[in-house]
Amino acid sequence: MRTIIPFQDQWMFTKEDVCTPVTLPHTWNAVDGADGGNDYYRGTCVYTKQFEMPDVQLGSLVYLEFLGVNSSAKVYVNDLLCGSHDGGYSTFRVEITDVLEEHNTVRVEVNNEISDRVYPQRADFTFYGGIYRDVNLLIVPSCHFSMDRDGSPGILAISKMKGKSAQIFLRAVVDDLYDKIVYRITEDDSGTVIAEAEGERAVVKLEKPHLWNGVSDPFLYRVTASVYQDGAVMDEVSLCIGCRSFVFDPKKGFLLNGKSYPLHGVSRHQDREGFGNALTKEMHREDLELIREMGANAVRLAHYQHDPYVYDLCDRMGLIVWAEIPYISEHMTKGNLNAEQQMCELIHQNEHHACIACWALSNEITASGYSEELYREHVYLNELAHALDPSRPTAIANAFMLPADSPLHEVADVIGYNLYFGWYLGTADQNGEFLDAFHAAHPDKPLALTEYGADAFLKWQTADPKRGDYTEQYQAEFHRAILKILAERPYLWGGFVWNMFDFAADARNEGGMPGRNGKGLVTFDRKIRKDAFYLYKAYWSEEPFVHICGRRYIDRPEEITTVTVYTNRPSVTLLVNGKRFSEQIGRYIFTFLVPLEGEVVLNAVSGTCTDEIRIRKVETANPDYILPGQEIVNWLDREVLPQPEGYCSIYDTVGTICGSSDGIAFMESLMQEGNGTNIQVPFDETMQEMMKNETLASIVIRRNDINKEEALKVLNRRLNRIAK
Ligand code: GCU
Repeated sequence: MRTIIPFQDQWMFTKEDVCTPVTLPHTWNAVDGADGGNDYYRGTCVYTKQFEMPDVQLGSLVYLEFLGVNSSAKVYVNDLLCGSHDGGYSTFRVEITDVLEEHNTVRVEVNNEISDRVYPQRADFTFYGGIYRDVNLLIVPSCHFSMDRDGSPGILAISKMKGKSAQIFLRAVVDDLYDKIVYRITEDDSGTVIAEAEGERAVVKLEKPHLWNGVSDPFLYRVTASVYQDGAVMDEVSLCIGCRSFVFDPKKGFLLNGKSYPLHGVSRHQDREGFGNALTKEMHREDLELIREMGANAVRLAHYQHDPYVYDLCDRMGLIVWAEIPYISEHMTKGNLNAEQQMCELIHQNEHHACIACWALSNEITASGYSEELYREHVYLNELAHALDPSRPTAIANAFMLPADSPLHEVADVIGYNLYFGWYLGTADQNGEFLDAFHAAHPDKPLALTEYGADAFLKWQTADPKRGDYTEQYQAEFHRAILKILAERPYLWGGFVWNMFDFAADARNEGGMPGRNGKGLVTFDRKIRKDAFYLYKAYWSEEPFVHICGRRYIDRPEEITTVTVYTNRPSVTLLVNGKRFSEQIGRYIFTFLVPLEGEVVLNAVSGTCTDEIRIRKVETANPDYILPGQEIVNWLDREVLPQPEGYCSIYDTVGTICGSSDGIAFMESLMQEGNGTNIQVPFDETMQEMMKNETLASIVIRRNDINKEEALKVLNRRLNRIAK
């Protein structure tokens, strides 16, 4: 039988000749990858470990198995190169049998350097370098389930519903001669044997199986494959499957086991404050428990393959998964092989998971422009995914600049759009209009809102939320609008909040928090659930609770303050300083207007659910609540810059400015000068159309990587020379 030896301890890590002892998982960018400046160390570092010859039977093989090394690795044992791997998010194995000695040294050279052939290279998250997932030493007998099939378990088990019965397709790849392969299907929880089959390939029919039914009943079966040689079991592999049917209907949305099941989704990156991507199993579990606590029933594991343990947990928690490869933001001519390899690994390593609903080919790949080559690569990846797993649809997540008539819409089976109206530009309602327009243009294409969100950093608080103010209040308002948009569009198969957690993007410098994307509903350290978290919990969770918003907006200058309570209970009683103030009957969001004087204790009660916050009346607004630079908004209101008759100015909309070729040229050069992220977006007609209602001033005010006042003056002078 195979032996799996955890291989996390006693590694030496060397970076720039400095050598330190480490325990895996490990990354060298936990700090510099999350502090802004876009200057985290992207280079080559070395991990070494001494180990004794393991107890190996004659004919057995020894492998090193890496579950995640970012982003390229070369593995040497006793100074001999035994294997290498490109791609930071999937399992790979290196066979080391023939190079083993009594005393051994493994050396892994890892690099996260810039490359023109390994994805990702351009995206809004940090590409942490390191051996950031578990490593195992595997010893297998000569007769074993293959270790060399794109890092897969060596067996395949996929279920497909046919009416009320399920067909389980089983296949195994065995290295070496063998007598027989036996599959045993058991109920995972009880161990009860349900069926048995034999052969390299087999199909088992289960009449009326216990279905895997999402969060309400994520029932799993376990498939155990055993290979026999000379009458003895030589190797055994087991994995869990679920019997369920998923339908992406362009008109009715998502159906689970034949019933409407709109996906209440969130997206998740695999990092955490202080740890980077070197997370423990416990951290993965905490993340998914927070997602379940909020009431979500689906998760987009962005923008790459996540730890195998995460898919196992999603199977067990009943969370439906959107799975994707990091083919993102910009197509690289030399990157095709790597994108295809990552797709093979994603599918072969995870095709058995009940939770996975689709394989996504790419994310916002046209953000840096469209090309025939890009289109052809999508066609190829689409065919590849269908060939590897005909049981699941392919998907694509588009950037909002991609026009509705793009040929790319004909490639993948289901479509998602990432929309940020109401944050990067425009108003939240425009997201609904955009989706309706696309749905009208493509009535037969299943459509979802695969990203939407607004940044909020808890320091910034206000009674008057505005787009771009990074306040907790605006984020909650924004999500309130989107929840309405999603509820009104049953044709959507789902919506995915960007993002469940704040995450690191070292190139960012926004909202006074360098290196951070603040669109999370929970903070980067997982310590604080922002108010918007409770909004979703009110809509999506059945666990009774009440939550008073604004606990971090303590100092309030207003005479009468708005107190908002989120709950999934039918009524709320508000107490002010212990006295009953008012009771309301309603749904999800309750708003009270409370006269403010001195220190105030607010209690919200509903049945046994309670919450309490403390606020106080202050004479003047607390300046600590306002994001520096936001005063530019007021400066601009006060300081009116020149607006010569017949000429453009910063107060004009992009639509007006683009009324002339000079105006268009001005906008093109402005977009080329950058937008505060490391993704250059071409200013084409689609972009022009999207931004037409934006005033130039509002675009500049959003930039945090420039001196706004200076920029507004300079740009206004240039615009004053462009005739309307
Ligand atoms: C994009 C992208 C994300 C990014 C997000 C954002 O849509 O897909 O990776 O983080 O926008 O700007 O917050």
